[in-house]
Amino acid sequence: MNILLTGAGGQIGADLVGALVAAGHRVVATDLRPQAAGQGATWRTLDVTDAAAVDAVIADERPDTVFHLAAILSASGERTPAQAYAVNQTGTWNLLEACRIHGVTRFIFTSTIAVYGPGLPDPCPDDVPLHPTTMYGVTKASGELLCEYYWKKHGLDCRGVRFPGLISAALPGGGSTDYALFMYVDGIRHGGYESFARADTRVPLMYMPDGVRALLELAAAPRPQLSRCVYNIAAFSPRADQIAASVARAVPGIRITYAPDPLRQGILDSWPRALDDRLARDDWGWRAAYSLDAMTDDLVPKVRALLDQRAGLAP
Ligand code: SER
Repeated sequence: MNILLTGAGGQIGADLVGALVAAGHRVVATDLRPQAAGQGATWRTLDVTDAAAVDAVIADERPDTVFHLAAILSASGERTPAQAYAVNQTGTWNLLEACRIHGVTRFIFTSTIAVYGPGLPDPCPDDVPLHPTTMYGVTKASGELLCEYYWKKHGLDCRGVRFPGLISAALPGGGSTDYALFMYVDGIRHGGYESFARADTRVPLMYMPDGVRALLELAAAPRPQLSRCVYNIAAFSPRADQIAASVARAVPGIRITYAPDPLRQGILDSWPRALDDRLARDDWGWRAAYSLDAMTDDLVPKVRALLDQRAGLAP
């Protein structure tokens, strides 16, 4: 397939681009700041808020499938809501319009647990009233509705997942779930971490290899098997202090303390603690592979390698 990604320089793209290239696809990876040598993909500059630029790149590259990853995450979005609206809302509209006009077949959308608001059941099913508390959540809930609209109205085959907080060998990027990633990154590079989330914080999380596989499997699923456009997917929901214990098992001697930040703690407390992903399991056979401890065992050497690589690049 001819695939185009937006926001390919972010946390998901860091692993998804290589997986798509390895699967034999022709991949055009776009971002605000394209990477020079990027995992076998062609890189192009693209600001998704620029409708003319989005139209031009889709017209030029003629992808069959678009993976739309570009987004401002929950914590960053509360600091810059206008930018979050522009990137997440207008950017999604620009992409959907360009895909419709130029006959793209399939549009893969990355949604989030942030579409949910407080007071929902645990585990939380797909179809509940959505009352998100962040601009990120508002724009992603709207993006889900736009996906459904373009599918029903224009036949653009839109599919997506609601991602839990994703953890990978990457530097944190403005999400409220970054406390989990920081426990690994700062635990390894500084020997400890002061968590901005309380010890008893519990939200849905997932290891990136499962997240990438979910996107690949959903993108490949026969459309008649899909009963909806956007699906919950789930892996595990440990308390913050259980993540700390898992990291400490693999990185002995680290010290994790807790100093909750009201903004990010408030966002985390507004989300369900676990997701019900039964529909994804039933419709396209989704099932997460990694537990918390399996993730830790796989991730710790990768975070060490990332930090060594960055130290090697430092002047
Ligand atoms: N990781 C995201 C965030 O915290 C949730 O999708 O914003």
